[in-house]
Amino acid sequence: RPHKHIRLPGKRIHIFREVSSTNNVARQMAMAGAPEGTVVMSLFQSGGRGRMQRQWVCPPGQGLLLSMVLRPDIKIESIPQLTLLGAVVTAETIYLTTGCTAGIKWPNDILINGKKVCGILAEGSLSRRKVEYVIMGFGININLDPAQLPADCRDTSTSLNLETGRRVSRMEFLKRFMISWDEHYQNYAQFGQPYVRSQWIKKNITLGRQVTIKKDQDVIQGVAEDISDKGGLVVRRLDGTKQEFLAEDISLRG
Ligand code: ATP
Ligand code: BTN
Repeated sequence: RPHKHIRLPGKRIHIFREVSSTNNVARQMAMAGAPEGTVVMSLFQSGGRGRMQRQWVCPPGQGLLLSMVLRPDIKIESIPQLTLLGAVVTAETIYLTTGCTAGIKWPNDILINGKKVCGILAEGSLSRRKVEYVIMGFGININLDPAQLPADCRDTSTSLNLETGRRVSRMEFLKRFMISWDEHYQNYAQFGQPYVRSQWIKKNITLGRQVTIKKDQDVIQGVAEDISDKGGLVVRRLDGTKQEFLAEDISLRG
C-alpha cells in the first residue's frame, strides 16, 4: 500500500516505501485499469530491474525510482521510440535542475562525464497486436554514493550529487521531469518519430563513434551512423555494409 500520494497536473503519483520493482507495481495498476498519468515511485526497490535480467541497485532514498503508465496510440514496433523520448526528457531535466550536460548513450543510458546517472526500462503489453499500455521505468541517481553500489557498476556510475557537489531535491527534479515529459510526449503524439529523432540526435553521444556490439555469441564492430524509424541503431560495419540493431537483443560498448 502506498504511504503517500502527490498530485501534479494530470498525474496521480503513488509513493511507496518499498516495492520489488516500480515497473511491476505500475503494471499491476495498469492491468487493473489505471489511466495514463498514473505514476509509481518508491524509496527502495528490492528487485529493481534493468534490461536483459540485469539488476538496478539504489540504496534507500538516494535516487528517483519511478514508473509511468502510458496508453499511447502506437504500434508495438514503436515502443523503443518511447525509450528514446524518455532519455531526451531525462537529459533535459538534468540540465535544467543542475546545469550538468548529460549525454544519451543508445538506447537507454544517460551519462554525465562518461558515467551512468540514469537507466530507462520500457515494457509494453499487447492485446490483439495493439499496444494496451506501456510502463516506462526510470532509475535516476540523485543523491547516490556509487561506492555503495555493487562492484560491477561502482566505477561506471555517477549521481547528480556527485557531479554538482550539492544535494539535489528529488521533488524539484520530479516536478521538472513531469513538465518536460508532458511537453515532449505531446509533441511525440503530434509529430511522431521525426520529432523523437530530431530531439534525440541533439543529445546523443553514440552516433559517429566506433562501437562494438555483442549479439548472442557474435561481436560486431563498426561506426554508429544513425537511428532507424524503429529506434534501432544503424551501424556501418568494417566491410562497408549497414546493419540495424534493436535494443532488445544487443549490448553496446564504445
Ligand atoms: P548496455 O551498454 O548494454 O546498455 P548496461 O551495463 O548499461 O549495458 P543496462 O541493462 O542498460 O546495461 O543496465 C543495467 C546495468 O546497470 C546493471 O548491469 C548494472 O551494472 C548497472 N547499474 C545497476 N544499478 C545502477 C545504478 N544505480 N547506477 C548506474 N548503473 C547501475
Ligand atoms: C537499465 O539501465 O537497464 C534500465 C534500468 C531501469 C531502472 C528503473 S528503476 C525504476 C524502474 N523499476 C525497475 O525495476 N526498473 C526501472
